[in-house]
Amino acid sequence: MLVILISGRGSNMQALIDAGLPVAAVISNRADAPGLEIAAARGIATAVIEHRCFVSRADFERALADRIDEFRPRLVALAGFMRVLAPQFVRRYQGRLLNIHPSLLPAFPGLGTHERALAAGVKVHGCTVHFVTAELDSGPIVIQAAVPVRADDSRASLAARVVKQEHVIYPRAVRWSLEDRLLLEGERVRVKGGDAQLVVSAA
Ligand code: GRF
Repeated sequence: MLVILISGRGSNMQALIDAGLPVAAVISNRADAPGLEIAAARGIATAVIEHRCFVSRADFERALADRIDEFRPRLVALAGFMRVLAPQFVRRYQGRLLNIHPSLLPAFPGLGTHERALAAGVKVHGCTVHFVTAELDSGPIVIQAAVPVRADDSRASLAARVVKQEHVIYPRAVRWSLEDRLLLEGERVRVKGGDAQLVVSAA
């Protein structure tokens, strides 16, 4: 079973649900996250732990972790969850916490990845699923998808091309994890069975 953490739209969450993965619950740090309704409409348990109701990050993360643990998940998947998580939280879910990031890490960690990719003039962009570590948007890479950057791309056209691939690679990575097929070798991740950890899309 997995628990998905969201803050907004929830398209990656939806891709995980649509892939038939065993989603125990969706938890949001914002009550107005549109993804909550989508999950509820699919009959999935939802919860809201609003970060702004807590005086400290530690208090928020403790409440969040307690709520997560009620569902006893094997895996926690961050899907557009817009809070930085402190080392203590990350440690609690070590090896069981995945994130999807809209760039080919280690390029462009943080926010505004598509604008920054366009400004840098890179010809290849994409997305990454990685294990979460205490350092933001770093951590062992599970799978990446690469897409071309076209001369006439806007932020929106590039974002649309990337998010389409996010919906391809995230369910794949989560399934591998739930099947216990991810092997951590130093900083590198190998998939038992040798499935491809790279998707290259020309579209
Ligand atoms: C995605 O681009 C994801 O990579 C990033 O935040 C965005 C969330 O989108 N971490 P959605 O809520 O899954 O539609």
